[in-house]
Amino acid sequence: MSTAVQVRQAASGSERYAERVNPEWVRLLNLLEMNVRYERCLGAELFTSDGRRILDFLSGYCVHNIGHNHPDVVAALQHELGRCGPAMIQTHVADLAGELAEKLCERAGGRLSRAFFCSSGSEGVEAAIKFARAHTKRVSILSAEHAFHGLTCGALSLMSDSYWRDGFGPLLPHTKNVPFNDLEALDRELKSKEFAAFVVEPIQSEAGVRLPDRDYLRAAESLCRRYGTLLVLDEVQTGMYRTGPFLAAHSFQVEPDMVILAKAMSGGLVPCGAVLMSKAVCDSVYSSLPKAFVHTSTFSENSLAMRAGLSTLEILDREDLGARSIEAGQYLHQQLSDALRGFEMVKEVRGAGLLMGIEFQAPRQLRLRIPYEAFSAIHPGMFGQILVMRLFRDAGFLTQICGNNFRVLKVAPPLVVTNAQLDAFAERVRDVIGLAHSPGAFWSEALGMARRALQ
Ligand SMILES: Cc1ncc(COP(=O)(O)O)c(C=O)c1O
Repeated sequence: MSTAVQVRQAASGSERYAERVNPEWVRLLNLLEMNVRYERCLGAELFTSDGRRILDFLSGYCVHNIGHNHPDVVAALQHELGRCGPAMIQTHVADLAGELAEKLCERAGGRLSRAFFCSSGSEGVEAAIKFARAHTKRVSILSAEHAFHGLTCGALSLMSDSYWRDGFGPLLPHTKNVPFNDLEALDRELKSKEFAAFVVEPIQSEAGVRLPDRDYLRAAESLCRRYGTLLVLDEVQTGMYRTGPFLAAHSFQVEPDMVILAKAMSGGLVPCGAVLMSKAVCDSVYSSLPKAFVHTSTFSENSLAMRAGLSTLEILDREDLGARSIEAGQYLHQQLSDALRGFEMVKEVRGAGLLMGIEFQAPRQLRLRIPYEAFSAIHPGMFGQILVMRLFRDAGFLTQICGNNFRVLKVAPPLVVTNAQLDAFAERVRDVIGLAHSPGAFWSEALGMARRALQ
């Protein structure tokens, strides 16, 4: 196909999307020069129609732990489609769901011995809210400030940042936030004995890859037990070996009453989520024959999602991707720390396994601080977005800044990433951040972007 035809097709695809779905999304991607047409995605590599190779260091926000289009998941799905088995009958026992639940619970351990399946992280959070209420007979839900739990009304009610909330209220009453990693604040709230659940990410991803103190989650669990509140861990990003162990909970030796999984569960190919829970919590919902289907959803337990989930677990085990996440995470941390040492705008490189963040700070030197502050005043995410844009356009790396903390660049490649790819990333990040420390090209780009955004 000629390049001219490809460009026309891409344009018409974007135009149709803008016309019928969301024009502002297309505008934003154009502004960031990230509106490319992906043709083929394999492992950590994304190939575009204009012949570029992009390395994915975002993984769809922790969806692609096993890499894009893993051939074994593709084959498992083809097999499932080819056998014409039961799909969405709704009045049958889904064998594959039982098998996947067993395998997930075995890996999760502790109290987690039952699973409810759903099709997204938000839907998992909604289920956890209902199950916690049913079990404790309490209504209030506590969560942590700057968390990201999803954008359906219940999940959104647990989030504090106004960007997501404004204009969508009134949200769920009886919800409250406490600062993350603050046990005194948690104790103050929980002692009211009003809370059915404390819902928290073990490592806050969109808040800036924030790790709690070593003992925070274990102490939070003790407080929850003392006051009769369920501990619910949102492991939608941290689960499925992203940080090393199957659950981040395992690193902190904590035993939650419920864990929410989604994103990487099904190889990035079929929507799938799950809430793992204790038998006691599950029994509180499915408590009698008439209650057998009191919480369900049409696409839950569908055979393609279950098959993809089983195949994904097998790959994660066979390729030992949990161990790889730890090893590659340590390697990347070292490479980035070495590459970025001495840059005054780099505050910290931190993370667990391959969930990593680079935090930036305002520069001290006046010649850098003046443009930095001017652009931050236009939009607080401006500096980070220009980094993201330059990494994408000039260096061929897909990244993003955190949704609730624009000063942190999220780094989360597929767990199959190679050391050579990690080396290349560290080098190119150093180049782009080096540019940001020499006023000129970096900031004139920012000016151009600001002008275009305001047009
Ligand atoms: C930690 C966390 N929880 C929940 C969600 C919501 O998941 P979904 O977008 O599948 O509804 C997200 C989405 O990014 C998330 O990062």
